[in-house]
Amino acid sequence: MSGLPPVIAIDGPSGSGKGTVAQAVAEVLHFHYLDSGALYRLVALAADRRGIPLNEENRLAELASSLDVKFVSSDIILSKEKVTDDIRSEACGRGASLVGALALVRQALLRRQQEFRQAPGLVADGRDMATVVFPDARLKIYLTATAKARAERRHKQLKQKGITAKITVLLQDLQDRDARDESRSVAPLKQSPDARLLDTTAMSIADAVKQVLEWYRGLEIGDARP
Ligand code: C5P
Repeated sequence: MSGLPPVIAIDGPSGSGKGTVAQAVAEVLHFHYLDSGALYRLVALAADRRGIPLNEENRLAELASSLDVKFVSSDIILSKEKVTDDIRSEACGRGASLVGALALVRQALLRRQQEFRQAPGLVADGRDMATVVFPDARLKIYLTATAKARAERRHKQLKQKGITAKITVLLQDLQDRDARDESRSVAPLKQSPDARLLDTTAMSIADAVKQVLEWYRGLEIGDARP
């Protein structure tokens, strides 16, 4: 084992619930939390505000390395402006998926993500946490659910916020994003061979959290054995 703080890497497709699960696990263990998707969303938002087209790789990479971003408890501050809700829009999600396909942008965000690894530990959620950013993670999980279940969850979330959306449109959008994330040549979304699969289609968030904690504690007990 390295002397670095432990990492629990949770990867998976959009809407699988990995963000909620990762945050809850971090809270129980008093670990730090990295929402890596937020960084890609921030690049998309900042690019939109500065009028940078989402295919100009060099300018976007420069933007990614110079982002003035702060994570303050559950708020995200970009250049002194609170953008916590703005980055959650469908447009930012689509934009994030486009900028996430660019190798130079991914490279520019790599160190920034690794800096979240602080004592006593980190729970990191994304697409390439186990494969690229933290290949030495203590526990690797691939958290997924069927596209239909994920679209239904998203629909419910939007409804709770008073936003009407067609489930067929949400499903199509999720499938397009999955296809883009899985087929890109750099850091594609895929289950790392050493990651454990957690399918939450028929599982509550609470049960998923319980399972992750059980796996993690199981590893710790294993370590403590003579
Ligand atoms: O997780 P979230 O839905 O916020 O991510 C938005 C998009 O950012 C994803 O669809 C994906 O294309 C990109 N992303 C990525 N690598 C990560 C996290 C997110 O490419 N580690």
